[in-house]
Amino acid sequence: MASAAMSTLNLISSSPLNKQLRHGAGATVDADHVNGFSSARPAPPMCCSSSSRWQAVKMRPRLRPWRRAGSRVVAQAGSYKVAILGAAGGIGQPLSLLIKMSPLVSALHLYDIANVNGVTADLGHCNSPARVAGFAGKEELAGCLDGVDVVVIPAGVPRKPGMTRDDLFGINAGIVRELVEAVADHAPGALVHVITNPVNSTVPIAAEVLKRKGVYDPRKLFGVTTLDVVRANTFVAEKKGLPLADVDVPVVGGHAAATILPLLSKARPKTSFTDEEVEELTARIQNAGTEVVEAKAGSGSATLSMAYAAARFVEASLRGLDGDADVYECAYVQCQAVPELPFFACRVRLGKDGVEEVAAAELRGLTEFEARALEALKPQLRASIDKGVAYAQQLPAVATG
Ligand SMILES: NC(=O)c1ccc[n+]([C@@H]2O[C@H](COP(=O)([O-])OP(=O)(O)OC[C@H]3O[C@@H](n4cnc5c(N)ncnc54)[C@H](O)[C@@H]3O)[C@@H](O)[C@H]2O)c1
Repeated sequence: MASAAMSTLNLISSSPLNKQLRHGAGATVDADHVNGFSSARPAPPMCCSSSSRWQAVKMRPRLRPWRRAGSRVVAQAGSYKVAILGAAGGIGQPLSLLIKMSPLVSALHLYDIANVNGVTADLGHCNSPARVAGFAGKEELAGCLDGVDVVVIPAGVPRKPGMTRDDLFGINAGIVRELVEAVADHAPGALVHVITNPVNSTVPIAAEVLKRKGVYDPRKLFGVTTLDVVRANTFVAEKKGLPLADVDVPVVGGHAAATILPLLSKARPKTSFTDEEVEELTARIQNAGTEVVEAKAGSGSATLSMAYAAARFVEASLRGLDGDADVYECAYVQCQAVPELPFFACRVRLGKDGVEEVAAAELRGLTEFEARALEALKPQLRASIDKGVAYAQQLPAVATG
């Protein structure tokens, strides 16, 4: 088998994106088009000037993952290792596929307690450069985490109709705790992306576990709230007839019901909304997860859109690690953006050590509606944070290192 790093990319599509790719003699490539993660490419990142004005900037990846070999366009491997814990699940599988397509990734480690060997064999046949390895069951978790730069955690049970995210706490708290303990032992310097719900509580649990292990770096722990941004962008673009790729709506707070607060007044491009539109869009963004849970009627929650969003966040994190400037995403992190809330989702700048800057200034100049919603969400979010911390603090002492 040809080495993955040398595999030729066959992009066979009639989409406009790929019309500029011509293989065979005289092959040409529009590098801007293939030089990224086209299906899950982050929206234009935002840069924050000292005057707190956000401007879209064009992102230029530093890596050139494609090279020419004679008439062929050849993919080259990136250099980052990513582990997905819960890789055989509804989110884990499409997320693994999207990350396998990332030109920044050299190795993709898939871990699950069930069905991971089949997923690994299947994904390993895709001729994109990242090498795929499967790790089945707890005894292989350490090997999965060895040397990885980013750990993504979608392991856990999803909602069924009628459930809140908090209803998942009983099962998912223990899963996150167990996995993050292993991360602390075997990948203490990695960025950790927590997808498992209830994110408002599982991230504080992860922080406590890492603290108890003596390896907590708040810059490296994230609750993945990218799906709220993805949904907000989609719904606003649809409502206002805007091109999807141009829309960027920051979503702050947390990741459950009323704690999800889209800042429509800060949407780009600058857009005006009636009061009714603000109320309708805010409610839809807050309840979008439930919309999917009900449509799936008992078979789970958002998986494809979540995988898309998580892949976007992984890609942004890797670009930050790789030294790209001005990589901004919203995420649920430990910060002081709202002093009474030790964890809060807001826009952060991603760099070589994870969070390099928290864009707390974005919380200034809110509309009356947004300011009221921010006040209203504080008790609920605080209770979820406290619940996570209390859970972790009553755990028996853990061995370090
Ligand atoms: N952050 C978000 O925006 C967001 C969005 C949607 C779903 N979610 C959450 O993501 C989680 C996963 O959802 P899903 O639809 O993929 O669920 P799923 O049941 O389809 O998949 C979960 C996977 O986790 C695995 N798993 C369970 N316990 C494990 C353990 N201890 N170690 C490793 N793997 C383990 C299972 O075997 C399964 O493959 C849920 O908690 C869901 O609520 C978060």
